Amino acid sequence: MTLGVNIDHIATLRQARAINEPNPLEAIFIIKNAGAHQITMHLREDRRHIQDDDVRAVISAAPLPVNVECALDSHIIELLCALKPNRITLVPEKREEVTTEGGLNLEKNFANIKNTLAEFHKHNIATSLFIEPNEMMIESAKELGAGAIELHTGKYANIFLMQTTNLSRTNASIAELELPQEELKSLLDSEILLLQNAAKKATTLNLACFAGHGLNANNLEPIVRIKEISELNIGHSIIARAVFVGLERAIKDILEQLPTP
Ligand code: PXP
Repeated sequence: MTLGVNIDHIATLRQARAINEPNPLEAIFIIKNAGAHQITMHLREDRRHIQDDDVRAVISAAPLPVNVECALDSHIIELLCALKPNRITLVPEKREEVTTEGGLNLEKNFANIKNTLAEFHKHNIATSLFIEPNEMMIESAKELGAGAIELHTGKYANIFLMQTTNLSRTNASIAELELPQEELKSLLDSEILLLQNAAKKATTLNLACFAGHGLNANNLEPIVRIKEISELNIGHSIIARAVFVGLERAIKDILEQLPTP
């Protein structure tokens, strides 16, 4: 299983001061030295963290493949077709959200996604769709011609978090906060089952299967046991841990838990 390190929150820290440090570009060499396999970054419509120049600089210098996440935004799509990252992952975006909540609605945006994927393929860019672990969504991803899917592990991570911490009930974006403790264990088991079945379904349809969102050194274990998942993309927990132990150590702590690719 390979690891893509999402560098968005290095840029979040820089944007907090609107100056030039920390620079996400500096991270990419540390990520390579730590043994990770890919750089992942999300160019959001609101440019709250990664900027166009970051994408440009990282793609031209990267010692590793670059996976750029974006929404169905025509300006960003045009920019990325010109910059040619190794892969583009289409994700949903709502301006008011704290992070990417939920996967893409493939049925609702079918024609737009199909055309966008075709455009990326024309530019020799590999593609992936960020979706919920739902077997029907995976069939749609196949019909749309995606090269891969990335399973959204956010719901799993939220349930895990609620089971193991006393996080204050103030984060409105975590729906699972409303659930009573006794329901959480069975909900966690059913979410893991959904991820397992979705990963199997993707493999049956010949779609590469990745996963990400909310993963960290504590909650990884059931996910790394799903052998059909070949890549994880992890950002927030690595950057948060790096504040205390450094980026290289934070990445190695994750890599040590992954089966060898
Ligand atoms: N994968 C995708 C498609 C994402 O949108 C994100 C968040 O930007 C991640 C992985 C990483 O999530 P986290 O920062 O919670 O590790």
